[in-house]
Amino acid sequence: MAITTCVFDAYGTLFDVAAAARVLAEQPGRDRLAEVWPKLAEDWRLKQLQYTWLRAITGDHTPFWEVTKDGLDWALERQGLHEDLELREALLALYWELPAYKEVPFMLAKLKAAGKTCAILSNGNPDMLEGAVDSAGIGSYLDAVLSVESVGVFKPASQVYDLVEERFACNRDEVLFVSSNGWDAAGASAYGFTTLWVNRAGDPMDRLPGTPTHVLSDLTTVPELAA
Ligand code: LAC
Repeated sequence: MAITTCVFDAYGTLFDVAAAARVLAEQPGRDRLAEVWPKLAEDWRLKQLQYTWLRAITGDHTPFWEVTKDGLDWALERQGLHEDLELREALLALYWELPAYKEVPFMLAKLKAAGKTCAILSNGNPDMLEGAVDSAGIGSYLDAVLSVESVGVFKPASQVYDLVEERFACNRDEVLFVSSNGWDAAGASAYGFTTLWVNRAGDPMDRLPGTPTHVLSDLTTVPELAA
């Protein structure tokens, strides 16, 4: 079946989640952050995701913004930085204006020129996603920004992937789902989407039921893959 609809994960896939800590660490006077930011960013992301999975299992849903703050608090405490409230606020503020990876605007423009439907499907709550889409300037390429908030459970619950067929009245075999999260690409493959895992770091493949259909190191050739 031909691909009609390209659906992107947001955080880590279109938007560079490490940028908040990296950008702040470049500011004068941020010596301690400059030393620890890679580990801080890694812990922040990992805890944020763990909390989504655990909350999905226990049925204890909360907006993604809450688990984003909880993950940061854990990561800051691990570095002994949890009493620096100014740092906490600065990192959280930057999360609302994460940059898109550099190839994103051109890649989306090519997909739209080829007549594809393009959307985001993300754990993010709608206002967070609106902030990131606006600051990256990619809203005009997107036909929809779908959030798990409308089903009240995080990925990889199948109700989340159902949102695509519901919104676009398409079949799942027309959908190319793109994620930098191996577990998300695996979940979407098991669900029945054609998938692309964007493996920027050269990580090993996750040992999960679904296997990504395609693997690339960035998003540049998504339009060729979807053609
Ligand atoms: C998202 C997370 C998984 O955007 O990155 O859904």
